[in-house]
Amino acid sequence: MSYENILVETQGKVALIRLNRPKALNALNDALMGELGEALLAFEADEQIGCIVITGSEKAFAAGADILGMASLNFIDVHKGEFITRNWETIRRIRKPVIAAVAGFALGGGCELAMMCDFIIAADTAKFGQPEVKLGIVPGAGGTQRLPRAVSKAKAMDMCLTGRMMDAVEAERAGLVSRIVPADKLLEEAMTAAGNIADLSLPVVMMIKDSVNRAYESTLAEGIKYERGQFYSCFALEDQKEGMKAFIEKRPANFKNA
Ligand code: HXC
Repeated sequence: MSYENILVETQGKVALIRLNRPKALNALNDALMGELGEALLAFEADEQIGCIVITGSEKAFAAGADILGMASLNFIDVHKGEFITRNWETIRRIRKPVIAAVAGFALGGGCELAMMCDFIIAADTAKFGQPEVKLGIVPGAGGTQRLPRAVSKAKAMDMCLTGRMMDAVEAERAGLVSRIVPADKLLEEAMTAAGNIADLSLPVVMMIKDSVNRAYESTLAEGIKYERGQFYSCFALEDQKEGMKAFIEKRPANFKNA
């Protein structure tokens, strides 16, 4: 499939999606988000793929929603046109792991998109922020909801109310990103992490993603019960037999996703 606003490729069991509107610092518009959703759904359905990486350019993961496209909209346009809900959150339907590899700016909708991924690997050049307040709007794709869950109320309030940016070190300290790597190693590190995940048992990986996400949607007691159900179901998998047999035989496991 060919796209105009993203570039896609596969390397072994890993799919790589690059946001590609370089002149606008990968500003996110409906066309780009539509293509991103299509590509994600295609890789979700592709049995060869076990993990997906989303990245941008050296200068920007994404500098937010396209301000030029939004400037003249009025309430009824965004409400009736289902701005955001129409295609911004397709990524939430993806059960395979999705890693954000972020260099440069991840602002507004760009930061929100990164937060919709399962984890963020940041280049040392990464800058995160929710600057919407400076444009006279509130964050609209999870900035006020996912950021406090990822960092803390104090940090999220600071970021959303001032619109300032935080660098990679601050973002890692706050828990927004899982690791920082040198900018020239970002893609290599993200692809290696994704490749390692893709070599594991896909049903187990999907259960782990589902279970960790459940921690944000439920009480601790409900989440623990949910996890236990997932744990018990692993013992119905051939991959559990293979994983434990391989350990005992001191050899790498050969998972069959079954
Ligand atoms: C449209 C954008 C853009 C954006 C940058 N550009 N961000 N176009 N929408 N969000 C364009 C610029 O207009 C410019 O185009 C080109 O990209 C390069 O940007 P510069 O500003 O010249 O680069 P620089 O001086 O390096 O500054 C980088 C920057 C700045 C700090 C990232 O561009 C900036 O502040 N951008 C806006 C960030 C922002 O407010 N994001 C939140 C958007 S609202 P030309 O043609 O002039 O070269 C949002 C709401 C989400 O995300 C709601 C949920 C969907």
